[in-house]
Amino acid sequence: MLFIAPSILASNFVTLGDQVSAVQAGGADFLHFDVMDGVFVPNISFGFPVLKSLSLHFSMPLDVHLMIQNPDLYIERFAAAGADYITIHIENEGDTVEMLRKIRKCGAHPSVALKPGTPIEEVFPLIDEADMILVMTVEPGFGGQSFMPEMLEKVRRLREETQRRGYDRYKIEVDGGLRIDNIADAYDAGANVIVMGSAVFGSHDIPYAIKCLRAAAKREPIPEPSEPLISEDYTPPTGEDAAEAEQLEIAETTGDAEVSSSDENVSSHDDKCDVTVGDETDTTAE
Ligand code: DX5
Ligand code: ZN
Repeated sequence: MLFIAPSILASNFVTLGDQVSAVQAGGADFLHFDVMDGVFVPNISFGFPVLKSLSLHFSMPLDVHLMIQNPDLYIERFAAAGADYITIHIENEGDTVEMLRKIRKCGAHPSVALKPGTPIEEVFPLIDEADMILVMTVEPGFGGQSFMPEMLEKVRRLREETQRRGYDRYKIEVDGGLRIDNIADAYDAGANVIVMGSAVFGSHDIPYAIKCLRAAAKREPIPEPSEPLISEDYTPPTGEDAAEAEQLEIAETTGDAEVSSSDENVSSHDDKCDVTVGDETDTTAE
């Protein structure tokens, strides 16, 4: 099964509710929710209040991607705010296995992401703990960047490894730069959860865009009327992000910028979750 997960990072927040209604009407499977703290990645997005509003108003599963420095401190609150999937990065400091277990204990599906520079073998020991693995196909932090096709080899190797372990429908998510012209390559490589920001929210007809993208993934004909998917006048709120990302990369390589990652002022606390997951442990499902 193919899961389409539009990322609201690319939406126009003035009319967020209407656009999410269109995403739901278009048959999207998940709503992808990118949380950025300005520390783990050099960008800031949104958090609990927005997630809670969406969760109270919409029924579609909320797929929360945490690009934050200390995810362990916030797992309970994201679960309580309505997250159905919670993805943490393997590059975070801390005990990834413990965090994944905490996510499950809080009633959400645990998931782990890896950046483009992290070898795929590093997540292999986490396959049994997680219900999904997210292979980043851009550097995390910004929407509207170009897809990195070389990441598909990581997807292939991960799919092989999950199959070798007997998971026929393990969820492998790809995120960043997915468009109508590369979605089939990602699906063929073994990705079955496809995150798309601008490819969905850049369309003047979101339900139609989702139908086209789903067809394109399976190399089926694009449904009529076959109009352009991305509106020419589309300027996402994060529209300058790709340029911003490039500037930061240039600054970092020339030593003009530094992103700090201090957590000195953040106090830790105990695992407070007592919600059990029941029969929701679906590492073998879909
Ligand atoms: C990047 C985010 C992505 C991003 C995808 O850090 O994790 O979810 O919103 O946006 P597009 O599809 O426009 O590349
Ligand atoms: Zn994401």
